[in-house]
Amino acid sequence: MLLDQRIAEAAVRAASAHETPLFLTDAAALEANADAVAAAFPDPWLRAYSLKADPEPSLVRRLAARGWAANCVSLGEIAAARDAGVPASQTTLEGIGKSGAELDAAIAASLAGTPLRWIAVESLDEARDLGDRATAAGLTAQRPLRVLLRLNPGIEPGTHAGLAVGRASSKFGMDRIELAAAAKALSAAPGLRIIGVHLHAGSQLRDQVAWRAAVDAALDAYAELAASGALDDAALKSDGTLCVGGGLPVDLGTVEDLRAIATEFAATCDAAWAAHANKGVAATPPVRAVEPGRALVASATILLARVLHVRARHEAVIGGLAGPHGSPKSAAECERQVIIDAGMTEIARPALYAAWHPVVALNSGAAADGETLSAVHGPICESTDALGAHLLPRSMARGDLVGILGAGAYADAMRSPYNGRPTPARLTLERDGSLTLDRQRGASTEGSPPTRR
Ligand SMILES: Cc1ncc(COP(=O)(O)O)c(C=O)c1O
Repeated sequence: MLLDQRIAEAAVRAASAHETPLFLTDAAALEANADAVAAAFPDPWLRAYSLKADPEPSLVRRLAARGWAANCVSLGEIAAARDAGVPASQTTLEGIGKSGAELDAAIAASLAGTPLRWIAVESLDEARDLGDRATAAGLTAQRPLRVLLRLNPGIEPGTHAGLAVGRASSKFGMDRIELAAAAKALSAAPGLRIIGVHLHAGSQLRDQVAWRAAVDAALDAYAELAASGALDDAALKSDGTLCVGGGLPVDLGTVEDLRAIATEFAATCDAAWAAHANKGVAATPPVRAVEPGRALVASATILLARVLHVRARHEAVIGGLAGPHGSPKSAAECERQVIIDAGMTEIARPALYAAWHPVVALNSGAAADGETLSAVHGPICESTDALGAHLLPRSMARGDLVGILGAGAYADAMRSPYNGRPTPARLTLERDGSLTLDRQRGASTEGSPPTRR
């Protein structure tokens, strides 16, 4: 069962008090996910939540309270982590390209005696700029900034092209030659301390062979760094790190399913570490870190929407997935279209990656007259604003409530004001059944008359 009665009931309550679209997070599900992944990657693994999946402060705070550190890709995310109570020592700064201001902020934190856990360097240009800025700012070995070097593992992660960041041709990370050159550039700055390697093989990974190949490549890169003398004795003995990134796939089943998936990923890492140690590789990193995003949050949030109109119109949804709840079909012949008031401005993933999220009816008794395969669309003026094919009640009508499931990752985080859309409200369903309003619905530009001059 994809949506339990407790959440369905809370969704109806939330939508009767607040306008749709709105996001509703189930605190119990969020915490259960966080604990399941933590159990798969127990101490001494370092665990950080990747805020890019959903930087909502109340959610980050709940994860921080369960021991999750924060992985950030901008000063905005760093501020969100700080506001959620995560100390700098448990905050990392990563990201494909960092501005001078971002590099300076990381340096300033070290100068102030509150260093970030690390900054992950993505390119040779970035390494040179960071080195120049650190030296100019007077950063010294007494108050260093710890640095990881991001490797592009050059693997085929077997996921959607838009999520396959570990491919050799992707824009992410450095190959081994660039990585060695970046290490050299960083070593010239006395206040920068290289402690290891950073990896992100791709997201929604399923293939353990590809995952193992990526971890192996990163362990090799770490050994090369050690052999080149880029790592100091303290790194080799105690804080040398391999961060394996995120990428664990989302599971909309039970929390036990998520725990099983996470355990498989952790076991593959263990096997890779053991194999490297056994084959006499000179150095394996003493510290292991993991930084999932979507796996923690996706299944804990639903996006609520109301039906705007229903129209009998044949549509073959190509490449869509059709019900019952997620069984794959290559093309779904739909008898009608259902237009709802949430779309790509609230959940961009279907338009971006052809992602399919179950859409379920939340009106009680609505399925009494059976269901029909329906092409669900959002209200935005783009034909890619489509949510795929879903089995929905025949009686569905304007005003009915639907839930878009698995909307906790890269949905609210990517929301846009396109078409003059307001910021949707956000609520949390607490364990005691009460609803907390985390964010009011924002102002909309819809309906404002054009200004006359
Ligand atoms: C470096 C890095 N770490 C972690 C993540 C989080 O990925 P996911 O949400 O798939 O776990 C990403 C996603 O793009 C990433 O690029």
